[in-house]
This record gives sequence, structure tokens and C-alpha cells, in this order.
Amino acid sequence: MNILLLGSGGREHAIAFKIAQSPLCKSLYIAPGNAGTAAVGENVSLDMSDFPAVGRFVLDHHVDMLVVGPEAPLVAGIADYFKATPELSQVLVVGPCKEGARLEGSKDYAKAFMMRHKIPTARYQTFTRETLADAEAFLDTLLAPYVLKADGLAAGKGVLIEPDLATAKAHLREMLDGKFGAASASVVIEEYLSGIELSVFVLTDGQHYLLLPSAKDYKRIGEDDTGLNTGGMGSISPVPFADKEFMKKVEERIVKPTVRGLRDEKIDYHGFIFVGLMCCNGDPYVIEYNVRMGDPETESVFPRIKSDVVELLEHTARGTLDRASLTVDQRSAACVMMVAGGYPEAYEKGKVITLGEENADVLVFHCGTKMNDEGQLLTNGGRVICTTALAATLPEAILKSYNRAHSITWDGKYLRHDIGQDLLKLMAL
Ligand code: AMP
Ligand code: GLY
Repeated sequence: MNILLLGSGGREHAIAFKIAQSPLCKSLYIAPGNAGTAAVGENVSLDMSDFPAVGRFVLDHHVDMLVVGPEAPLVAGIADYFKATPELSQVLVVGPCKEGARLEGSKDYAKAFMMRHKIPTARYQTFTRETLADAEAFLDTLLAPYVLKADGLAAGKGVLIEPDLATAKAHLREMLDGKFGAASASVVIEEYLSGIELSVFVLTDGQHYLLLPSAKDYKRIGEDDTGLNTGGMGSISPVPFADKEFMKKVEERIVKPTVRGLRDEKIDYHGFIFVGLMCCNGDPYVIEYNVRMGDPETESVFPRIKSDVVELLEHTARGTLDRASLTVDQRSAACVMMVAGGYPEAYEKGKVITLGEENADVLVFHCGTKMNDEGQLLTNGGRVICTTALAATLPEAILKSYNRAHSITWDGKYLRHDIGQDLLKLMAL
């Protein structure tokens, strides 16, 4: 079949890499893609927010399946557009409809969904400018630190964790006064959950589901999780403490009620659910839902999937996921992200990348890269490139991934040296 994948990051390179391995894939297009995806398919210059343009490409190139990488087109309703356009309605789409995408697009919607379906999450209330006094009174009932969340999409910056009540109240007012534009016209205030974070990924056709491998990402720019938040500086899969017993709790208390909730509410959902979890004393609580795969979690999760990914995605889109099965590589995967100097603040693009010696054993996924007319590989984003190694043990996977990462160079390259170290320490306890 002919497949169009939307997106341009490391997540899309990892997905494209697995799609291209399938004998079911005839042509793979990636829009807009990066220099890495160009090696496993054909990059096309399409604006993914221009649904009619995406639709025209799909018709002109006889695309059978559309796979949506990032959340923005889903929140804007690309799946609904395909369904409602007669000549596109037969195209298979992996990615939820607009209503389903609200699980990521609105924190208040996601929390209310969890309440309706009795899914464990932090206690919360949602407020607007009109209910500021109630919001402050609610803050008074909570203990520090205080968690304030802009309701809408705020480019990953809309969550504030405040150490004291006065700062929390001041920042709450700023948020309601438009700190994050329309995204913070409503603010969710919730109880702080103390524990270890991890992510669980679900593939669902809205009725059935498959539980994909767990992963942990490293969000801060600095070692020991210090400094500014980033898109993610590395990932590990599986998460060693997410053992059978813990995953059983996740499945029974969170995954099953989530999928049942989507079904009972007749929400058309064919795609990924990324469940951000906090493990508090061995019990899982939902921190957030995303309606796509994570980046860079995909770069450690997808290489572990042994099943034919196109077959899995086709069953997802068709609603026949009960006929699919998942085989997972039992080895550990470690992904190390390399970023441009200065990221996540201002950084330069266009630096020449030297890829170093290839090692068949370690995957290299491109994030922000492009090829210039002279065939030089250039940096083209904050997160530039990452390495993923699989090995029988986590320490070996980490070592292999770092060895390869150190052989990739450009002016200003930065990486964290402690990806996975927290998990190794926990395992040693
Ligand atoms: P979110 O955008 O909802 O994932 O929040 C961003 C980050 O804030 C999460 O990855 C957590 O590290 C942290 N966070 C969010 N909600 C809570 C909470 N209720 N308790 C503790 N940390 C939280
Ligand atoms: N790595 C976190 C995310 O993709 O949102």
C-alpha cells in the first residue's frame, strides 16, 4: 500500500524506518520529513495544516493510508476532514478525530474524561478569570508545591510547578490574564503527585487495544534533571520498575477504562494514546494524555516492535485490532538525543554534521536535519539527531548508544551524559 506520514522529527524517522521495513509498504511519503526520512521514503513538501493540499496529494498519489505523527493536525481535525470529504473518506487514517484529540488539546477535557471513567489522576479543579477568587481558595486547600496547567496547547510550556502559595497565586493571575494567550483562559489547578514518571503507549481502534512498550524520557536540558524543559533529551525502553505487576495495574486501572470510555462516549479513535504516568508508591496516576506517540520515546519504543508495523496500523485504522498481535524485542533500548548549542533557548541552524563511522548495531534517527544542494548534512532544528542502541542489558544499551553518539559531531553539539542513570540507580537499590 501507499502511505503518507505527516511530521518531520525523530519520531517520524523512527516510524518511517519501521514502515519501510514492511513488505506491505509499496511507496512511503513523508511530509515534510527530514534528511533521515529521505533515506527510507520520499519527502514531500506539504503544509500539514493545509488539509485540502494534503487531500490533493493523497488522491494524486493513490495514498491508501495516512499516518499522523504530531498532535496539531489531529487537534485541528484532519481525521474528521478526511471522513467528511467523499473522495477521501475511504482513505485509512491513523490518528483520532477532533473530539478524541481533545484529550491532549484540553487539560480540562482530559481531567473530566478521567473523572467520568474513574481513572486515577491528581485531584483538580478548573478556573477562569471570573472564578479567580474560587481558584485562590482552592489553592489554599492544597499543599506545596502547586501545579498550574494552561487548559489548551501551549507548546509544552503551559505547566507551572510553583514552590509556594504566593508565587502560585501571582502566576495563576498572569495565566488567566493571557500569559499563554487563549490556551490559559482556563487553568487547571491540581494536586502535586510525588513519584517517578514514565510513559505507556497504547494503539487502539476505539474498541480494542494493544499495549506497546513503556518508556521514560528525560525532559530537562541539564544533567540530573535540571534546567529548562526541552522536547526530550533521550529515552529508555522498557522502564525497569514497570514490571508485570505494575503494568497490570496500568492496564486494569487506566488503559481498559480509557478505551472503554472512548467506546462508550462514541469517540472515533483510531490511533495512539500516550499516557504520561506518575508512579506513586507503586500505584499509577495519569498526569496527561497525548494523542500521538512521544518524541523521543518513539525512537526507543519502535525499534523494539518486531511485528509488521504497517499491519498494526492498518488494523488500527480499519477497526480490526483484535486480529493483530504484538511481538516485542525483549532487549533494552537507549536513545540519546543530540541538540544544537543554546537549545531550548535561541540556537543556530545550518551547522555541518559529521556522522562518524556507521555501526550496523546502532540506529541513527534524524530530528532537525536537512541536506543542502551540495549533499552536506546540516542542522535544521533544536533537537538534531539521536542514536538508539538495543542490548541484552540496559547498561550495555546505554554504553553502545553513547559510543555512537560521541562519533557524531558539529559545531555546538550538546548532549546529556546521564540518560538512564537514574533507572540504573533504582535497579541497584
Ligand atoms: P504535562 O504537560 O501535563 O505533562 O506536565 C508537564 C510536566 O509537569 C510533567 O511531565 C510532570 O513532570 C509535571 N507534572 C504535571 N502534573 C503534575 C502533578 N500533578 N504532579 C507532579 N508533577 C506534575
Ligand atoms: N517526550 C514527550 C512528548 O513527546 O511529549
